[in-house]
Amino acid sequence: MKETSLLTEGDINFSASRQQWYAIQDAATLAVLEEDSDHFLHQSLSTPCLDVITSCEGIYISNLQGKRYMDFHGNNVHQLGYRNAYVLEKVKAQMDVLPFSPRRYTNPVAIEFARKLTGCLPAELHRVLFAPGGTSAVGMALKLARVVTGKQKVVSLQDSFHGASLDAIEAGGEEQFKKHLGTFHNASINIPPPTFYRNNNRFDDIRYAEYLDEVLHNHPDIGAFIAETIRNTDVQIPSKAYWKKVREICSKHNVLLILDEIPIAFGRTGKMFAFEHYGIVPDILCLGKGMGGAVVPFAGIVTKDEFNIAADVSLGHYTHEKSPLGAAAGLAVLEYMEHNDLLEKVKEDEVFMRMKLKEMKERYKLIGDVRGVGLLWGIELVKDRITKEKAIKEAEQVMYRCLENGLSFKVSQGNVLQLCPPLIITRTELRSALEIIEEAIAFIQLSSIA
Ligand SMILES: Cc1ncc(COP(=O)(O)O)c(C=O)c1O
Repeated sequence: MKETSLLTEGDINFSASRQQWYAIQDAATLAVLEEDSDHFLHQSLSTPCLDVITSCEGIYISNLQGKRYMDFHGNNVHQLGYRNAYVLEKVKAQMDVLPFSPRRYTNPVAIEFARKLTGCLPAELHRVLFAPGGTSAVGMALKLARVVTGKQKVVSLQDSFHGASLDAIEAGGEEQFKKHLGTFHNASINIPPPTFYRNNNRFDDIRYAEYLDEVLHNHPDIGAFIAETIRNTDVQIPSKAYWKKVREICSKHNVLLILDEIPIAFGRTGKMFAFEHYGIVPDILCLGKGMGGAVVPFAGIVTKDEFNIAADVSLGHYTHEKSPLGAAAGLAVLEYMEHNDLLEKVKEDEVFMRMKLKEMKERYKLIGDVRGVGLLWGIELVKDRITKEKAIKEAEQVMYRCLENGLSFKVSQGNVLQLCPPLIITRTELRSALEIIEEAIAFIQLSSIA
């Protein structure tokens, strides 16, 4: 089944640009891609694959031919880079002692990590439950919200992604993920996300919060509002007023505020957790991805003591629930961040990125907007700055040119270049990535005029 409509998330795996990309790959790579295609189930957005990678180090992934890509995507697991020596050492040491902990038993490293993690959070967020992946963490949060509130429905934002399982796609707002999967149980309502650029830069996203108030008022069976604090994919950064208001509204309606920080916690935004930028505290916080240090799949939720009321419900029940390896990786992540003052570094990088991308926007009319925080940035490409028509083909071409030149990232919403480098990136590496992007934008802008 060929897909031509997958313009929302990721690159277009069957487009002309993808075919041109394959045309410049070597025979050995193409043979492995073919084998991959023969063995694995084909699925939307992930297949066919782009390239074959065989090693990774720091900010780089390397392919069969030894070509290195700076990885500005990394599925958001690589805050500390790949094969971070400190993380590897801690995980390897744990592997030699207790690599697995069967459910119904506990282990010291899981407890130590829970203590350390909650020590980084506001005092109310004290109760932890781990899971092997982010989607499962979201599922646990949704279950807990049902138990706590006795209400089944959930509100989320349009185009939001909270994982790809049936419960998570039902809760989320990306129609793409619901396609061909039959009926859902009407358990979620999607409301518009707070956005600025496509909302004529009106900095009054408070009205999006007011709309939530209205929805909650009209649907007393809603028990939770789930959202990313800052949307990772197309980099949407709500105002402080928005989140303050949302927090107030959720409390007023006895609706739990679930913040999904699976891709952006652990320093991505310049704070350990993104909600710290807003002076609010969620009822449930979902974590994952980078928590496993780009080594171990590991995720979880953190919530309040007062919600520790589901002792007779299987909230998680996962085989790898208290993974000692995951906990060792998570501990190492927090320790490494502390020892290396990584949050301060990210704040400095943010200033640099803001300046450089603003200058780039002034030079190229293909760029409609640049926005970001910490080391999470979006460059939105448009055909026309007035109409803001999305430059979808151009975004894809820019992406492939960057790939050719050794920089990997994802395109979101069809036209937003999403830049999510490892937080350990050096200034020299950051500069050289920006040079690759600028060269590609200049080239594609020129070719689209010609
Ligand atoms: C915001 C958000 N929530 C949840 C998930 C699901 O995490 P996982 O793929 O680890 O199940 C993702 C994954 O991309 C995500 O971006």
